[in-house]
Amino acid sequence: MSSTNTKPAPVCNPDTIGESATPDRIQGMRDACRVAAAVLDRMVSAVKPGVTTYDLDRLGKACMDELGAESACFGYPGQKNLFPAYTCISINEEVVHGIGSLDKVIQDGDVVSLDVVTRYKGYIGDNARTVIAGQGDEATQRLLKVSEEALMLGIEQARPGNRVGDISYAIQHWVEKHGFNVIREYVGHGVGLEMHEHPQIPNYGKRRTGPVIVSGMTLAIEPMVLMGDRNVRLLPDGWTVVSRDGKPAAHFEHTVLVTNKGAEVLTTVN
Ligand code: MF3
Ligand code: CO
Repeated sequence: MSSTNTKPAPVCNPDTIGESATPDRIQGMRDACRVAAAVLDRMVSAVKPGVTTYDLDRLGKACMDELGAESACFGYPGQKNLFPAYTCISINEEVVHGIGSLDKVIQDGDVVSLDVVTRYKGYIGDNARTVIAGQGDEATQRLLKVSEEALMLGIEQARPGNRVGDISYAIQHWVEKHGFNVIREYVGHGVGLEMHEHPQIPNYGKRRTGPVIVSGMTLAIEPMVLMGDRNVRLLPDGWTVVSRDGKPAAHFEHTVLVTNKGAEVLTTVN
């Protein structure tokens, strides 16, 4: 990427939004997000029993190469080391930031969360989805359905004049109403020239609190939902977040553009 002194202000920073949300930048985000969605789609279709999470990660990398994109995850600095894979693949009790491995062979009924963040022509697209390999049980199907609904309800709140807390509240309320829990340790975020930009978007909170949402912001909204209680811990690999009670988790994420008409989902292949 370009050096810091030539780097333009972040796309979604509300302090600079008047000058930063130019048509060029918005088009840049549209293109980057379409690429991220295409890669995620390909990976989702490849989830089936017998496939290793290493294979899935390599498939993601191959798609990125094919589309002229780069992984924004690979080499990303964490608390103790750099992220070693191209995508995040989290199975069952793994909530987020799982690392693909040849030792992890997907079994029938496994809950598989795929998180793809790509850089394309300087812009970042970020999206995630959880699927079941095979049928799965009813409780797991419900977990996925409620989590995706929570994402869509959060997205609905991403409109000018609302605050980040309106998104947070909508997600938390829907999730808890169905007996599930959101995690507190990881949050959604602004996204643009960097993967993690201002503002943070927690999946819990109060209405009418937090930063004001304005037109032109690009936001990654991402409920991380636990079937059991909300306690998580970090594995010694420095990345993989797992539920303490060992129950499964789901993760759905879209990058959206805030417009005067409301939020537009950018991470779709259409
Ligand atoms: N969607 C995740 C996030 O926003 C992706 C993280 S990639 C990693 O945090 F590099 F941190 F692994
Ligand atoms: Co994200």
